Amino acid sequence: MKCVDDFRLRLGGRELVPIVIGGMGVDISTAELALEAARLGGIGHISDAMVPTVSDRRFKTRFVKDKLKQYKYNVTNSDKTDVRFDLGHLAEATRLHVGRTMEAKRGDGMVFINCMEKLTMNAPKETLRVRLASALDAGIEGITLAAGLHLGSFALMEDHPRFRDVQLGIIVSSLRALQLFLKKNARIGRLPDYVVIEGPLAGGHLGFGMDWAKFDLHTIVAEIRAWLKAEQLDIPLIPAGGIFTGGDAVDFLDGGGAAVQVATRFTVAKECGLPEDVQQKYFLASEDDIEVNGISPTGYPMRMLKNSPAIGAGTHPNCESFGYLLDANGRCAYIDAYNREVAAHPAAKKISVPDKTCLCTHMRNFELWTCGHYTYRLKDTSRRNADGSYQLLSAEHIFNDYRFSKGNVIALPAMPEAA
Ligand SMILES: Cc1cc2nc3c(=O)[nH]c(=O)nc-3n(C[C@H](O)[C@H](O)[C@H](O)COP(=O)(O)O)c2cc1C
Repeated sequence: MKCVDDFRLRLGGRELVPIVIGGMGVDISTAELALEAARLGGIGHISDAMVPTVSDRRFKTRFVKDKLKQYKYNVTNSDKTDVRFDLGHLAEATRLHVGRTMEAKRGDGMVFINCMEKLTMNAPKETLRVRLASALDAGIEGITLAAGLHLGSFALMEDHPRFRDVQLGIIVSSLRALQLFLKKNARIGRLPDYVVIEGPLAGGHLGFGMDWAKFDLHTIVAEIRAWLKAEQLDIPLIPAGGIFTGGDAVDFLDGGGAAVQVATRFTVAKECGLPEDVQQKYFLASEDDIEVNGISPTGYPMRMLKNSPAIGAGTHPNCESFGYLLDANGRCAYIDAYNREVAAHPAAKKISVPDKTCLCTHMRNFELWTCGHYTYRLKDTSRRNADGSYQLLSAEHIFNDYRFSKGNVIALPAMPEAA
């Protein structure tokens, strides 16, 4: 019986362990987690979601405070068109986040950044250009284009000196999305170096409608593979979503995947950015506690734990501090939903907004517990302590379990030493 270690991913002139830890914003896939993947010979992702906020928390910068100070006059105004990101600050924050990570990198693997197009930041093109260029300036080894079709993203990087050397990939959930991307970028004469195919069981936002359950990752991978072959295009494919054991990974590698991208198993790693009390909620979840709903203002369905504090919360929009989801016209679906509820309950001290959530605030505060479909199986990957809590795992343990376990066996961590 084969294990993942029998395969290698060839990318950028290197031979890598074919395990990619997917990007998890906001700072859930931390630098520490990505660096472990790289040290162990695979690929780890940091995320470019809300980087100024992440930089403040990690490096004691003041980007959020300064932005709020500048736009304080607008806090009670429902028109957010004035609220803009300072592009210089955005570049500085990204260079800090990426630069410090790359300085700390050890080992033969690679560190990439997950870059989400849906973070439109009230100036989609300009802010995306700055985020991409600053990550390249700071030495990132690869960029995975996520949450969007990215029809113009290659063009935004085209003039950067590292454009032809850095590894560039795109996440798609259908052949059609890949075809659109390739068609739109044909003029540039550069193919993606890899394509992540994300199926319906993934965590975070889904590239499907609410009918996600009708789709199946194996089928989408086979379809994309057959089309690339017919077009004589040789691009490594990286399936993602619901790959929970080494055996699941081998199935995809045997079926022509060049690597697998995984995330959910790492949400209970010590190096993951989720606070430990939240990680315990992930361990405790049963299948019924997980839902795909429409509360993300991005318009994409999102999978999360039903007991996430973000669901139904009537948080005042915090666009003057954050504002990452404001579209090109300064609108966000949450602001509209919030204002509707305020108007409907003029006397209420506290309101609830059932249909949308203030994603910036709640992701920043770890109050929206997005997760993969198989989160309910995490309890089978660890041991329970005497007080009922579960042991957190090291990223190395989880990585090596994917790498060396055979079939659907999951290696449990060592027993805690008796006190
Ligand atoms: C907590 C969490 C947060 C995520 N956030 C992002 C994100 O910010 N951007 C993104 O492209 N994918 C995100 N994902 C998707 C993962 O990168 C990955 O492709 C997918 O979850 C893999 O499936 P698995 O979780 O079943 O292993 C997230 C997944 C999880 C579990």
